[in-house]
Amino acid sequence: MYHIDIMTLFPDTVGDVLSESILGRAQERDILRIDAHQIRDYTLNRQKQVDDYPYGGGRGAVLQADPLYRCWAHICARYEKRPHTIYLSPCGKTFTQGDAKRLAWEQDHLILVCGHYEGIDQRFIDECVDEEISLGDFVLTGGEIAAMAVADAVCRLVPGVLSDAECFENESHWDGLLEYPQYSRPEVWHGRAVPPELLTGDHAQVERWRRRQSLLRTRERRPDLYEKLDLTSKADQKLVAELSRPALPQPVECRPAAQADLPAIQAIIAQARAWMDASRIDQWNENYPIAEDFLGDISRGECYVLTCGGAVGAVFTLSARPEPCYAAITDGKWSAGQPYASIHRCAVAEQWRGTGLARRMIEACEELALAQGLQWLRVDTHKKNKAMQGLIRRNGFQYRGNVLVDAPPPHDPRRVAYEKRLKPL
Ligand SMILES: C[S@@+](CC[C@H](N)C(=O)[O-])C[C@H]1O[C@@H](n2cnc3c(N)ncnc32)[C@H](O)[C@@H]1O
Repeated sequence: MYHIDIMTLFPDTVGDVLSESILGRAQERDILRIDAHQIRDYTLNRQKQVDDYPYGGGRGAVLQADPLYRCWAHICARYEKRPHTIYLSPCGKTFTQGDAKRLAWEQDHLILVCGHYEGIDQRFIDECVDEEISLGDFVLTGGEIAAMAVADAVCRLVPGVLSDAECFENESHWDGLLEYPQYSRPEVWHGRAVPPELLTGDHAQVERWRRRQSLLRTRERRPDLYEKLDLTSKADQKLVAELSRPALPQPVECRPAAQADLPAIQAIIAQARAWMDASRIDQWNENYPIAEDFLGDISRGECYVLTCGGAVGAVFTLSARPEPCYAAITDGKWSAGQPYASIHRCAVAEQWRGTGLARRMIEACEELALAQGLQWLRVDTHKKNKAMQGLIRRNGFQYRGNVLVDAPPPHDPRRVAYEKRLKPL
């Protein structure tokens, strides 16, 4: 059993807080025992006075060494081994999760001493205290809140207190990172949707998203912690490279493309085509997509651009017309008989890859489809185009089967087809 004895002028307050919820249940199951001791009970004077004026003058009072010592000695007498004694003090070392682990796993008995007034007589500290711990660079009225914080952080790491080590292993400060944002039901609250990556049911994707968010948060909020991280793994290197990309110029807006956008669109398409060539993905070729395709899309109002700070950063076509080549799907099937919108000819400018603009593009497709009363989105891509498949899977699209597109020999006409059911916001 793990023991914590707390020396305080307010044992009821401390006892009440630490006997609630998880720590209360752990005490009922004899995994923990937390006792709060009234320092006043160890005075020798009738008034139960525990403080006196500071030598050398000055305002306030100091907790005297003797009642503290008597209380401490009384607690020690109950145990064979001298308990590790901590004085909660703004002059101590700032408490961290590392200290919580050390105290939970290397000790089995703590005495926490709460000061009050101006503090406690140094001679008690010199004689009885093993370490001084501070809650942070601020001053509290008394040590009780600090003692409760330390006791709580230590106790939840004592084996058996939480049901599973997983409960604390992914939390903030466990391995030097801050935790990723958490969400619970409903999926949309006050118009704010849960990030789509968390709804895919794909464990690897969820883990990757969480790691990315943790790194991002830690870098933004705690650069001191971020600097100390070991990010040498291949996966982390990839995430760090993504996070190092420049931020998108704001605002990011989606609007129907105009003929004047054609040069910018063609530049983005050329970059995407070069990337596909370099990646040996036989999806686009010299005859597709070309300016005529986009001019047709623009004239039908089906071509859109995403602008970043006014400049075109991405392009896509969203069509509500049934796609002829989707009719003959093999190795699977589409959702039955639903009107849908399909995404074609989409690409993000090279400089904005990895910045989240592609995700914004998919979100824009979803909003536009919903605005047209369509609740299904379809898209196809080459099976070697892992970037596109990753993007759509992360955004909740599901693989439906294989289709053949109109690609002249020697090009590969085979495509993998995906679909997503949209939920109105
Ligand atoms: C008003 S404080 C005394 C501060 C002291 N005169 C000083 O300037 O360092 C009274 C008691 O609150 C507790 N306390 C105050 N700030 C604390 C902190 N940041 N962390 C832990 N304990 C604290 C200590 O037990 C301390 O003895």
